Amino acid sequence: MPSSAIASAESLLRWYDRHRRRLPWRAEAGESPDPYRVWLSEIMLQQTTVAAVIPYYERFVSRFPTVRVLADAPIESVLASWAGLGYYARARNLHACAQAVVARGGFPSDLDGLRALPGIGVYTAAAVAAIAFGVPAVPVDGNVERVAARVFAIQDPLPAAKPALREAADRLGEQPAARARPGDFAQALFDLGATLCTPAQPACGLCPWVEACAGRRQGIASELPRKAPRKQRPLRYGVHFWLTDPAGQVLLRRRPARGLLGGMTELPGTEWRGEPWSADEVRAAAPMPTDWRPAGQVRHGFTHFELVIDLFAAQVPRIAAEGLLRSLATLDEEALPSVMRKCVAMVCGKPDRRRGATL
Ligand code: ADE
Repeated sequence: MPSSAIASAESLLRWYDRHRRRLPWRAEAGESPDPYRVWLSEIMLQQTTVAAVIPYYERFVSRFPTVRVLADAPIESVLASWAGLGYYARARNLHACAQAVVARGGFPSDLDGLRALPGIGVYTAAAVAAIAFGVPAVPVDGNVERVAARVFAIQDPLPAAKPALREAADRLGEQPAARARPGDFAQALFDLGATLCTPAQPACGLCPWVEACAGRRQGIASELPRKAPRKQRPLRYGVHFWLTDPAGQVLLRRRPARGLLGGMTELPGTEWRGEPWSADEVRAAAPMPTDWRPAGQVRHGFTHFELVIDLFAAQVPRIAAEGLLRSLATLDEEALPSVMRKCVAMVCGKPDRRRGATL
């Protein structure tokens, strides 16, 4: 990079002071950040967009306004408030972390102390340390990787480029102006990545680093970071059943506490396996013998596989099967994971209220 072109922390922070996003977990300029809110938002924001998180965050903090309230709450109510955000192990770790924080009398304010808590990895420790406690650390998420790849024109594809991108981000964060305002510098990088240095068609004309950006100079900014071709996720197949009665009840069951979607509720159904289920197998897996009608198909992407669910529905005078009988009117309060919310929306023929148009 020529010495005339420096991605200066000062210019980024000047831009941030004018254009920062107002987000519900963010302290306003001059206010002290609340470590509980910072930590909660960072856990929620992992692999989810800001727009998707905001309504969950607001509901969550009104229900659990402090780390102590969260620590004292039953895990079922935490899972129910988390339902729809995905990655439920995170909600369990969140609860365990809240209990550990209360037990030690508050959040630790250094990277190692934070890292030792349940569910806090390198990224979250850096984000909380920087934003809540002013520790000079740069949290490297997808936004920050993209900014770093472009500013330094790092062309190696992800994920192999991760260490180089982290080093580049650290280099940016070593500037004295960044070290003087670590929380703002981190959030400025997030905002730059989310609002200007976007994956497609970055708004380079508005960017405080336009002069410094090697990717821009080379005309390759929008192609960075490059990505190694993704392996196709394997398909798995499942069948689930929507069984109701005239009193407005539906049959659910609880998943085992350990493993994928541990402890969440679901419609009764088969396991999820690599081959489709035959009609005989579907009949055998049904919670009751009755006249089942096909009620649609739902697809859902998990981290390591793509799931195709065939739905069958029936109404019977009386539900005589093992499981949890729940009122249709209060299904919203159940800890139903996103995949099951999609199933409910499909059989009920209405959009899932929590996710609206994203279904
Ligand atoms: N992405 C991850 N953490 C964030 C934060 N604190 N603000 C905005 N976007 C983020």
